[in-house]
Amino acid sequence: MSLLYEGKAKRIFSTEQPGVLRVEYKDEVTAGNGAKKDYIEGKGRLNNQITSRIFNFIKARGIESHFIEQTSETEQLVKSVDIIPLEVVVRNIAAGSITKRLGFEKGHEFESPLVEFFYKNDNLNDPLITEDHIQLLHLASEEDIELLKNAAKAINAVLVQLMDEMELRLVDFKIEFGRNKSGQIILADEISPDTCRIWDKYSDTNFDKDVYREDTGSIIETYQTFLNKLEEL
Ligand code: TMP
Repeated sequence: MSLLYEGKAKRIFSTEQPGVLRVEYKDEVTAGNGAKKDYIEGKGRLNNQITSRIFNFIKARGIESHFIEQTSETEQLVKSVDIIPLEVVVRNIAAGSITKRLGFEKGHEFESPLVEFFYKNDNLNDPLITEDHIQLLHLASEEDIELLKNAAKAINAVLVQLMDEMELRLVDFKIEFGRNKSGQIILADEISPDTCRIWDKYSDTNFDKDVYREDTGSIIETYQTFLNKLEEL
């Protein structure tokens, strides 16, 4: 089975089954488009387990994704899709880049969830792009953009509820979508503390990659605590 793609946190392999890929989660963590990079033993296992649980949880609530099943501590099988090169970010609470870009105070609660699109392009540093840019670049049609926004909001509603049950607040997250052979757009990639900001409801504790970005704690302890909470549900 050959390696098809290696990203910052995952390797993707072909399998003997047509249309099915094997994803291996790596023990690597990066921030700032690779500016900060470390090998952290056990991180791949945690992200694979967390993503698998979350994809199963949202599936049970009617949201399909590329996820098929977890096959080992660090691996899962997924349906093959052509990834749309857009990072779709949903924000419930201001943090991260939007505080710098638009001056919102960290912690400001948005009146309704905000959806933003970033162009997945390492050379350009993943810039924020408008819906017109997306159409100019032929990344998605007007109807597809509408579908992506509605899907992102529906996924947000399910994830907010999940986090609420864990006594956590979902601040923001990034998702990616892909097109399958018949052109249908489905949720892909991962949903984990690498791709979300998650705050405790009652304290300043956070359960996400900001502990690595800001050097405020151990990524393994943080992600393990989050996984334990998920498993208690
Ligand atoms: P941002 O505040 O840096 O724009 O990030 C918003 C959310 O998206 C945050 O939960 C982290 C996530 N994210 C990724 O997963 N990958 C990325 O490359 C970026 C820029 C953000």
